[in-house]
Amino acid sequence: MEPTIQAFVFDVYGTLFDVHSVKAACDEQFPGKGDQISQTWRTKQLEYFFIRQISGRYEDFSVVTRDALRYALAAADVTASSDVEDALIATYAELSPYEEVEDVLKQLRDTQTVVLSNGTADMLEQLIANASFTELFDELVSIDGVKQFKPSPAAYMSWFKTTDLKRDEVLFMSSNGWDIIGAKNFGFRTAWINRDGKPFETMDVRPDAVYDDLTEILEWRTS
Ligand code: LAC
Repeated sequence: MEPTIQAFVFDVYGTLFDVHSVKAACDEQFPGKGDQISQTWRTKQLEYFFIRQISGRYEDFSVVTRDALRYALAAADVTASSDVEDALIATYAELSPYEEVEDVLKQLRDTQTVVLSNGTADMLEQLIANASFTELFDELVSIDGVKQFKPSPAAYMSWFKTTDLKRDEVLFMSSNGWDIIGAKNFGFRTAWINRDGKPFETMDVRPDAVYDDLTEILEWRTS
């Protein structure tokens, strides 16, 4: 008998919200360079928390995100005043949710819904509130509590240890392959939300399910 899913746990950036919705603000400040800045910003944001985790030099996700923006601006050969930099950073609190997210979360209201993100508590609270999603989650969990970034096992444990669940009673959803690998490695059931139609990572871990968006995760509901 397959264990039933007792908790639906979501990654945030790239999974619930489009990190590239910052493109318009970047393009407004630096016409024609918005896409380049947005792509480099996200790439470096990931790289920088990987570096910090592996080298043991933790700084929270707001520092990582600002450092990555500064690289993206330098790589685009543009200079931003501190006001412009702050304005671009502020867009991270107003990212666009993907179109199916609110409806799916509403259909999961009778289950346990959790956010587990590398974002700081402040970043998550602002982002979720600005999207009017606060009432749709039971918990917003930032790994900043343990200062260990996903995909480290300690990051997933930081929430899991607060529950009385079995690991395979948790469905973890992310659009980020590295995050699915981390969650699967930890023992969660995993659904990779393949929004960009890419192949999965060619490593020795596979997701339990692959969907184009969050709609089909509803098949994991038991009620
Ligand atoms: C998150 C991003 C980094 O943890 O995937 O929400």
